[in-house]
This record gives sequence, C-alpha cells and structure tokens, in this order.
Amino acid sequence: MNTSLIINLTYIFSAFLFILGLKKLGSPATARKGNLLSSVGMLTAILVTLISKDIVSFKWIMLGMGLGTIIGIAGARLISMTSMPEMVAVLNGFGGIASLFVGWAAYLGNPQLNTFSATTIIISILIGGITFTGSFIAWAKLKEVMTGKPIMFPGQQVVNSLIILGVIAASVLFIRDPNAGLHFLWIVIGVSFLLGVMVVIPIGGADMPVVISLLNSYSGIAACAAGFVMQNNLLIVAGSLVGASGIILTNIMCKAMNRSLSNVLFSGFGSGSSAGSEIEGEAKPINVEDTFMILEAASTVCVVPGYGMAVAQAQHTVRELAEQLEENGCEVKFAIHPVAGRMPGHMNVLLAEANVPYEQLFEMDDVNPIMESVDVCMVIGANDVVNPAAREDEKSPIYGMPVINVDKAQTVIVLKRSLGTGFAGIQNPLFFKDNTRMLLGDAKGSVQGLVAEFKN
Ligand code: TAP
Repeated sequence: MNTSLIINLTYIFSAFLFILGLKKLGSPATARKGNLLSSVGMLTAILVTLISKDIVSFKWIMLGMGLGTIIGIAGARLISMTSMPEMVAVLNGFGGIASLFVGWAAYLGNPQLNTFSATTIIISILIGGITFTGSFIAWAKLKEVMTGKPIMFPGQQVVNSLIILGVIAASVLFIRDPNAGLHFLWIVIGVSFLLGVMVVIPIGGADMPVVISLLNSYSGIAACAAGFVMQNNLLIVAGSLVGASGIILTNIMCKAMNRSLSNVLFSGFGSGSSAGSEIEGEAKPINVEDTFMILEAASTVCVVPGYGMAVAQAQHTVRELAEQLEENGCEVKFAIHPVAGRMPGHMNVLLAEANVPYEQLFEMDDVNPIMESVDVCMVIGANDVVNPAAREDEKSPIYGMPVINVDKAQTVIVLKRSLGTGFAGIQNPLFFKDNTRMLLGDAKGSVQGLVAEFKN
C-alpha cells in the first residue's frame, strides 16, 4: 500500500469518528463518549498528518501542542460552568484566527498563486477575521464588560454596506494578481476584523448564544477553506462538519424562540423599545417553611431551571431536594427549555454535572401537555422561558416564542432574587398570577433551606 492511500484511509477513519462523535453528542447519556471519540479522531488525524508531511521542524509543533494542552487543561479546570458560554466564544475566536493565519502563511510561503488558491486564501482570511473579532465582541457582551444592549447609530447600514463593498473590491483585486497583492491582503485582514465588530455590536446580549453558534459555523467554513489552501482532505471534511452543525444548531435556537435568523441579526432585540402590555395585580411572596408544606403534600413536582440556577450554582442542592422529594413519595421531573440559560444544552450540562438521572429530564414539548396534572412547578432562576406573555400578549416582544407553560400547574413557586426581568428585559405576568408564589432570594440559599426542612 502506498503512503497516500494509508493517509487517506486514516482520514476516512477519523471522519467516521467525528460523525459518530457528533451523533453521540445528541443525548446526555452518550455525550461524554461522543466527545472522546471525536477527540481520538482528531488526534489520529494530527499524528498521521505530522508523520506524512515533510515538516521543517517538529520543535515548534511540539511547543504549540504542549502550550495548547496546558492552556486547555487549565481552562477546563479553572473556568466555572457559568462562564462556559464565554469560553466557547473565545475558542471560536481562536478557531477563526487560526484559519486566518493558515491563509496568510500559505500566501507568504508561495505568492505565485493560481486563482483557485488565491480565492480559498481570501475566504479563509476573511471569514477567519470576522469570526475572531465577532467572537470577542460576543465574549465581551456575555461577560458584561461591554453593554449587552444593541449598539446602533444613524447610518449604520450604509457604513456596513460600504465596508462590505470595500472588502469585496480588495478581494477581487488580490485574486486578479496575488503576486503583487500583499497590500490588498492587508486591507482584507483589517476590514475582516472591522466587519466582525460591526456585525455583532447591533445584536443584543440575549441573542449572543445564537451569534456564537453562527460564528462557530463560520469558523468551520474558514477551516474548510484553510483545508483547500493546504490541500488537506480531512480539514475540509472537519470544517464542513463544524460549518453544517453550527448552522443546524443556529436554526434550532431560532425555532425555539420563534424568530428568524434575520430577526436575531438585524432587529436589535433587547434594546428595551417594547416591553409589552402593563401588568396588573400583586405578586404573593412565600417563605421557605410554607413552601416546604406545599412540597411535602405534593405528589408530582416539576422543576424548571433557568439561567439563575447557573448563577447561583444551585444544581447540586436542587438534586438533593429532588432526592428528598422522591423519598417522600413524590414524582419529580425536570423540564428543560431549549434556550434556557446562556448556551445550548446549558441546563442539561449543569444537571448532568450534579448527577440528576437522565430519565428525569424532559423536553418542553413532552412536559407541556401534562402540565395541568402537575401539583407544584418550581421555577428555579428561569424567567423568559416561562413567561406566559409569549402566549397571551400580542404586544410582547417574545409573543409566539414557545415557553414552558408552568402557569398551568396547580401551584407555581418561583425562586429568584427580585421581581426583575430576565435577559429579554421584559416583565413577566407569571409572577402576578393567582396560583404563583414568589420565594425571593438566592436560589441556592432557598433550596438549601428547603432541603434542611425535609431533613428535619
Ligand atoms: P432569564 O430570562 O435570563 O432569567 C434568569 C433569571 O434568573 C433572572 O430573571 C434573575 O432574576 C434570576 N437570577 C439570577 N441570579 C439568580 C440567583 N442567584 N438566584 C436566583 N435567581 C437568580 O433566563 P432563562 O429563563 O433561562 O432564559 C434565557 C434567556 O436567554 C431567554 O431570553 C432566551 O431567549 C435567551 N437566549 C438563550 C439562548 C440559549 S441557547 N440558552 C439563546 C438565545 C437567547 P433576579 O435578578 O430577580 O434574581
């Protein structure tokens, strides 16, 4: 067998592991295995590529791999679960800049390019640059080091159109004569950075997970272009997989919010311009002791977690409470909204970390039809995803978004610190309904209080 056949067969094996890994990521029960399989696929691919190529020096590669491993282990261990969305944003950004460097280095290594190679280099640099700065703006919005509100100014569309025209012109001029086009390449690099900033600043902080997923898809497309630049089949396959899965995830999130992608990207959602109808009525507070009485008498309890549970790091205490309830003869379900929290699967990850059994996790569509038969719904740090205005108030900015219908349960207990709004910045009429009681305070503290009552 010749070397190139062995390499290509190994690449096919790696691609098979990537696809199998992606499939296994579809369920919490198999997700860890999926991650491991994909990592093995990537390691195999890297090793075969390194062995097969005439590498000038392994010294730099080993240094890079060593540094990457240290940073990866430190990041995975030190970053808290609440900061995972920010970490994903940063990793996407690095994926983008890596593709930009590949394109740039390919050009510097050989400026005598044909049109096809010049085009792939431009695509890898342009999309890589947009992904890099766009991801860091998304990071800053999530981390709240910059305002989460959409940043808009008069003439923004015109400025953006001019930037896009400028980058197209510089790209065409570069592709026509790559040999003499270094300054055009510089323009494309600079403008791609600027474009990344300009496309993300008008998007509200609440929509950042969608933006991150879209940028993730971009980073895949940039890697795919880098694969063409380097004529590496596996990089083309891996980049396409990332590009396609990112688009699919983006689409799932948009559907879960009943919004189109263009609405997410261009509507400035979260600017606070529309807050829906006035809410009448009074919220009824409840304390830990009375909540315990209600829970003790309940035979079915549905827990609906949201971003506040992640902030409070209450997942372990919530699992303890669920165990106490079950010991008391109660049936406990966890209902998960597809966009609860700040990243896809955020709640699943937290509950898996706390060892909540997978059989207790239910999707919104499975739990909504049985909500009327639930004795107590405990909303733990969730707000927008349980807002009945999405069903009832046509003036609400989230009207039409599918929500978990917790207000249809016999009793609703909402655990949060105040009557304040969630990420979408809109009032929640749930807090004022007759069957709702507000258990105000940090979610972890409140749940700890309930666990202590059960233990007593
Ligand atoms: P939110 O609507 O953001 O509400 C979270 C609530 O948690 C807040 O109202 C806050 O109220 C409460 N909270 C914060 N810290 C707390 C603590 N320590 N203890 C108790 N409560 C605490 O969250 P959600 O219901 O999960 O909805 C997610 C939002 O993100 C939606 O608007 C969704 O559209 C948007 N979004 C998410 C995604 C993904 S993929 N997850 C994608 C796009 C958009 P207090 O301040 O009063 O405590």
